[in-house]
Amino acid sequence: VFKRLEKSHSKEVTISFDGDEVVVREGDNLAVALLLEKYGSVRSSKISGEPRGPFCMMGACYDCLVEIDGETVQACMTTVKHGLIVHRIPEVSDD
Ligand code: FES
Repeated sequence: VFKRLEKSHSKEVTISFDGDEVVVREGDNLAVALLLEKYGSVRSSKISGEPRGPFCMMGACYDCLVEIDGETVQACMTTVKHGLIVHRIPEVSDD
């Protein structure tokens, strides 16, 4: 279980994750926001097909890759803002 330890005072905003409307906190790290909303898997391994999700939370593992505006980005290096449209990347090489 991933949960916020302290109450957040930042405002709620809505983002889209693979077509789901998700209410999150503005300014949060996107990987944290998705984990808090129970999206543990954000992509699949190209080799094994196994689900992958945020792990290191510091830009090292690349298991949190998502697509925003046609660009592949690390969710843990992305700040949440209202209206963000995020898509899963179904197959990404683990190389
Ligand atoms: S969680 Fe490891 S790079 Fe984002």
